[in-house]
Amino acid sequence: MESKYNFKQLMIERHSVRKFTSKEIPKDVLNDIISTSLLSPSWTNSQPWKLYIASGKALDEIKKAWLKNYETKVERKPDIPIAHRDEFSELSQKNMGELIKTFKEFTNDDIMTYNYIMFNAPTVIYFTLNKGYSKWSTYDLGSISMALMLAAKDRGIDSIQATSVVVFPDVLRKVLKIPDDEDIIIGIAFGYEEKCKANDYRAPKLKVDDVCKFIDEP
Ligand SMILES: Cc1cc2nc3c(=O)[nH]c(=O)nc-3n(C[C@H](O)[C@H](O)[C@H](O)COP(=O)(O)O)c2cc1C
Repeated sequence: MESKYNFKQLMIERHSVRKFTSKEIPKDVLNDIISTSLLSPSWTNSQPWKLYIASGKALDEIKKAWLKNYETKVERKPDIPIAHRDEFSELSQKNMGELIKTFKEFTNDDIMTYNYIMFNAPTVIYFTLNKGYSKWSTYDLGSISMALMLAAKDRGIDSIQATSVVVFPDVLRKVLKIPDDEDIIIGIAFGYEEKCKANDYRAPKLKVDDVCKFIDEP
């Protein structure tokens, strides 16, 4: 059956972009993709998210603080603690190991190089939840994040979701005036893809048979 919306193509073309050009995203386009993402489902329509959109001078200030903190080895302390490998299944650990290894082999670069410079993104959108949030709200952030990235891709804008952009929450609280009663969960960097090896890399994905068990006996 022919697809109605060409959704699969959008899924195929979205991938994590780790180096953006310096071209700014027009404000009306940002507004449009955000308003599309706000159509996302959530637990009992709770819509628990708040979004802080950083660009221009504010983002420059954040990037400067990031570089300084990385250089001086300030401890990374995101509001959701960085997960240890042991928290993941054996298969996930294998996938994670493969990402780091194959990225390095393909690009001759360390993946973190791009993280330190916040991917040179012209805009980063930070998601927060009120402290004491339900686990279901983090699930809901997954939905809106993907919706936002696909809405962006549909307008020719690339993205990467990254924990690395929330590892120094004190800086974000200060620059973006995020109240103390909100946890900063994740950030998504947006911009226009720069032509480079890092952006040609594609993360290996599992297949249907690797993860699905169909129970369909009559
Ligand atoms: C919650 C979350 C956090 C992530 N954090 C980072 C990060 O800090 N740095 C990074 O380079 N990529 C980060 N990524 C991107 C993943 O590495 C990427 O989604 C994965 O390798 C699959 O590649 P794809 O997005 O191109 O399909 C993150 C992704 C998610 C969903």
